[in-house]
Amino acid sequence: PIIAVLNGPNLNMLGVREPEHYGSATLDDIEQLCAEAAENAGVGLDFRQTNHEGELVSWVQECRGRACGIVINPAAYGHTSIALLDALLAVGLPVVEVHLSNIHRREPFRRQTYVSQAARGVICGLGARGYAHAIQALADMIEDEK
Ligand code: DQA
Repeated sequence: PIIAVLNGPNLNMLGVREPEHYGSATLDDIEQLCAEAAENAGVGLDFRQTNHEGELVSWVQECRGRACGIVINPAAYGHTSIALLDALLAVGLPVVEVHLSNIHRREPFRRQTYVSQAARGVICGLGARGYAHAIQALADMIEDEK
């Protein structure tokens, strides 16, 4: 079983980007953490990042038949993209949404995310560790629902 970890815009800038919100881990560090979490959970990993909304939508669609669950940090597209929500609803796979920062204690426009409408659960504010928890949670759900 493969879990897709999909990352949206500007997450390639992690490490240099607003470390007070996003910490010092780079996206490569997060991929490494996810690889370890996937190995511990006994699942495969497909880890990706894009700055393009349409590409993110296509990747979600491609998960159909290939992945058994999706961890997504939609970054700013979570707040804006109905297309991304619709893609997640269309594939029907279990989804866990992750944000590094606690989106509820920042600007009000970050409080609402369309993606949450398609998510089984949302993890925010736990930094890079949130990804590892999301992978473990999805692996547990998939196992439970077998
Ligand atoms: C983010 C939070 C979003 O509001 C922001 O646009 C991001 C990163 C996070 O991981 O905390 O780019 O998704």
